[in-house]
Amino acid sequence: TQLTRTLSNGTELPLFGLGVWQVDDGAECERAVTWALEAGYRLIDTAQAYQNEASVGRAIRDSGIPREEIFLTTKFYPGGKDARVEAEKSLERLGTPYLDLYLIHWPQGGPTWAWPGMQAAVEAGLTKGIGISNFGADEIQELSKVAEIQPAVNQIQFSPFEYRRALVDAGEAAGIVAQAYSPLGTGRHLGDPVVARIAEATGHTPAQVLIRWAMQKGLSVIPKSTHQPRILENYNVFDFELDAAAVADLDGLDTTGETADALSRGNKWWS
Ligand code: A2P
Repeated sequence: TQLTRTLSNGTELPLFGLGVWQVDDGAECERAVTWALEAGYRLIDTAQAYQNEASVGRAIRDSGIPREEIFLTTKFYPGGKDARVEAEKSLERLGTPYLDLYLIHWPQGGPTWAWPGMQAAVEAGLTKGIGISNFGADEIQELSKVAEIQPAVNQIQFSPFEYRRALVDAGEAAGIVAQAYSPLGTGRHLGDPVVARIAEATGHTPAQVLIRWAMQKGLSVIPKSTHQPRILENYNVFDFELDAAAVADLDGLDTTGETADALSRGNKWWS
């Protein structure tokens, strides 16, 4: 069983999955997704801009896992004109009948212009949910005011060093679940001494500590790796809990200066 959060459209977003940013289309991507699905991952996050949708789709089909057991996300590249038309093209590359989540990759051109096309993608049955990525609090508010279908997710860079609690809180207030990309700081945070100390004390690895921390903040977390041992390692985050002291030490690594403390409401928001 997977930990999930229920999105505003009623679907269940796994709290853990594989991100495939900067994974080459072809064998590298196909292998990574295959290993992840074999390990038990049920959330795969790609994007038009990653140019590896075809490999993601092939690995999913070849896995033999029923499509409805996998949560598949891709992202609209804001250089495109019409988000609905682009969703159709993504589905063709992915070789799948629907998306679970379709995100605007970043708010280029403003936070609202692409939204009618995103909503049309839902209405056409191309995707179950729609959301945003790399939106700030003001952009969330501007979009929420005009959206008929509210965004379900905001995918943001998030780690103890980028502990963007005011942004997460702004999203939660609008019914938007935050999802953490680059939870390892693209690998840069793995050598931090505080992270290393907590890893040693808990008998886990630095990657597991960083992933677990973000999950305990209620975020869905999508670390990237193309190496099977790491893909397996990153998945092993369901058998331990960081205690309050460890969480506080990790919180202290923040460099954003965001202070709104919405996350003190507790660290178990998932079902
Ligand atoms: P690789 O893909 O070569 O395995 P993030 O998810 O924050 O973007 O971090 C991804 C980076 O961290 C990649 O360079 C990835 O390398 C590396 N990485 C992912 N998982 C681990 C791990 N468990 N241990 C060490 N490095 C990891």
